[in-house]
Order: sequence, then C-alpha cells, then structure tokens
Amino acid sequence: MKPLTLPSGWKLFAALAALTLLMTALILAAYPPGSGGLRSAIRATARSSLVLFLMAFLASSLVTLLPGPGTRRLLRERRFLGLAFAFSHTVHGVLIYRYAQQFPELFWAGRTVTSSLPGSIGYLFLLLLTLTSFKAPMRLMGGRAWKLLHSTGMWVLAGVFCLSFYKRIPMGGWYPLAFALVFSAIAFKLTAKLAQRQRRAVTALS
Ligand code: HEM
Repeated sequence: MKPLTLPSGWKLFAALAALTLLMTALILAAYPPGSGGLRSAIRATARSSLVLFLMAFLASSLVTLLPGPGTRRLLRERRFLGLAFAFSHTVHGVLIYRYAQQFPELFWAGRTVTSSLPGSIGYLFLLLLTLTSFKAPMRLMGGRAWKLLHSTGMWVLAGVFCLSFYKRIPMGGWYPLAFALVFSAIAFKLTAKLAQRQRRAVTALS
C-alpha cells in the first residue's frame, strides 16, 4: 500500500483553505438563524488561525531547538502555512463584518473603536505580510527590509493573539490555557533566538 503523503506547497494551502471553509460552513449550518452561528464561526476561525499562525511563527525556532525531518518539513512549508493563516483570518474578518452589519447592537456592546485598534493593526500587518509573500514584491523590497517587515509583523500578530486571550482570561474555560499557549510560544521563540546567537558567537570564536 502506498504510504500516505501529506500535501505540500500550494496543495497544502488549498487543503487548509478548503478545511477552513468547510468548518465555517458546518458551524453556520448547525445554528438556527441569529447571531449564535456567526459568533461561533468567528471564534472557530480565530482558533484555526491560531494553530496555523503558531506553526508558521515557530517553524524556524523548532528547527533550531528540535532539529529533525518533521521540523525541517514544517520550515519548508512555512510560506504556505502563513498564507493559510492569512486565509483563515480573512474568513474571520468577513464573518466579523457580517456580524457587525447584521447585529450592530451586539457587535458594539462592550466594544469601542479604541478596543478594536490592536486587532485592526493586526489586520494591517496581515495584509502587508500577505502582499509581500510573493517573489516580485520580495525582490522589490530587498532581503533586509523584507525580513524586518516579516519579523515585525509576526511579532505584532503574536502580540494581538496574546492580548485577545489575555482579555478573555476572566471568562475561564479554555482562555487561560490559550493565553498560556501563546505566551509559551513567545518564550520558545525567544529561547531559540538566544540559542542561535550563542551558536553564532561560539562559531565566530572557534
Ligand atoms: C489580527 C487580528 C485579530 C486577531 C489575532 C484576533 C483574534 C481573536 C481571538 C483569539 C478570538 C477569541 C477566539 C476564542 O474565543 O477562542 C477572537 C474573537 C473575536 N474577534 Fe478577533 N482577532 C483579530 C481582529 C479582530 C477585529 C479587528 C475585530 C473587530 C473589530 C475582531 C472581532 C472579534 C469578535 C467579535 C470575536 C468573537 C467574540 C465572541 O463571540 O466571544 N477581531 N479574535
């Protein structure tokens, strides 16, 4: 029997995008008309975005701290995982737009323009990262500027996830765990950066 091979590249992106759409459609279909389905789908797409974001955010750190075929594969697929995250979060955005249009009084309850600022900045970076994930803009920007934008953008998005879950810790449930997950991912990435710097210093000395 042929071993199961996971899709890679654009096929991986297409599979993840299709899964995101299927999940959203199933959730919306499972609820009666009203705000419940939209709210649930908004939460679900935030969670699928989180999983995809963490894979892209941690790929290089995993190769540094836990090198192996699995982590190297993750790093090779990083661009497509990042684009799948952007897709999932675009669905999050479209659902939020529909929710705000259909149920403005519920949407604005406990929300202000200021409290929406971190998420909106997150979307601005998401747009910039997505647009510059292709060869032509990458070449146009040059390696240094591209790296700076992508590193800054990923940290900003990690910050927005962290803040989104931090705000929800008092709600209990899975929120404290989700916050701890994002916080640990940030600590893991910083540790990998430190390890890489130390390795470079040792190589320079020897
Ligand atoms: C990069 C930007 C953003 C990120 C990373 C993000 C992340 C999240 C997270 C983590 C959740 C909670 C998911 C859960 O319940 O487990 C969430 C829910 C939600 N977000 Fe976003 N979000 C972003 C932008 C925005 C923006 C700009 C708005 C609106 C102005 C928004 C509106 C909502 C709403 C309405 C919910 C559902 C709240 C509920 O029903 O409990 N988000 N988002």
